Amino acid sequence: MNKITIVGAGRVGESTAQFIAAKNLCREIVLLDIHEGAAKGAALDIQEVAPIFEYDTRLIGTTDHALMTDSDIIIITAGLPRKPGMSRSDVLSSNIPIIDGIVEGAMKYAPNAILLFVTNPVDVITYHAFIKTGWPRNRVFGQAGVLDSSRMASFIASETGFSNMDINTMVLGGHGDTMVPMLRYCTIAGIPVEKFIEKERLDAIVERTRNGGAEILALRQNSSAYDAPAASVTEMVDSIVHNRNRILPTVCLLEGEYGHEDIAIGVPAMLGQNGVIDIIELDMNDAEQTMFDQSAALVRKDLDLLKSM
Ligand code: LAC
Repeated sequence: MNKITIVGAGRVGESTAQFIAAKNLCREIVLLDIHEGAAKGAALDIQEVAPIFEYDTRLIGTTDHALMTDSDIIIITAGLPRKPGMSRSDVLSSNIPIIDGIVEGAMKYAPNAILLFVTNPVDVITYHAFIKTGWPRNRVFGQAGVLDSSRMASFIASETGFSNMDINTMVLGGHGDTMVPMLRYCTIAGIPVEKFIEKERLDAIVERTRNGGAEILALRQNSSAYDAPAASVTEMVDSIVHNRNRILPTVCLLEGEYGHEDIAIGVPAMLGQNGVIDIIELDMNDAEQTMFDQSAALVRKDLDLLKSM
């Protein structure tokens, strides 16, 4: 993997560039933003870390879409973040034109790239880009579930005192208040989590996970979360770059999986060098399927809004 473009030199974009460089995941990172100084400043700052963290990744900050040329992966973080009290859907109408400009640049300069979306509402943005590009679904997908799952795992680690390394969680569905934590698939060293946490506490952890983004926004007031989102993107990129074929919750276009089509939503996906290699269909019980359907219905509301724009 040679070149990764990160669009948006805001906090998520900058942290993502930092993590990807620190992990030596590519030779060149282009940080693209409409604000030249922000892009160039972030790129230079991260470049100056290289001798300390020992990476050879070159960073370029730019406003020029042409520098996307030959990118293997384009990570899109650009857009207006929500303010306290706003839902992820509230930023849809402002973010669609921004995404359109970026996607047009990608189609022109990097027609073979993988597009990885972070901008909210990520399920709807991913769907929109899929339609706009006409690219195969293995190359157009989004990040949400890795973040939601990591949040949940960190809460479980705090609750139980067990190592974060042993905790496996899986959060599916839309990246919103109706996300679907799959408790049956949440384990500590392979042992179902219910063995260690009583139902009431587990319910509280699920609730806190659903509000994970809002909790940080309420604390910071002037910024959404960025470190955990950036780390989540980096984990997906790592699986792609190293062709690891990890199973990670990913915002994917569904073609009948989980009983849905014509929608992008979080499902477990195998991520390798061609992007989404496979979508894993879990057997869901009635309660899980109902939760998933409710989450999909909420995403569809935004899709309707999108179609009316
Ligand atoms: C969050 C935002 C980035 O969950 O969606 O923190």
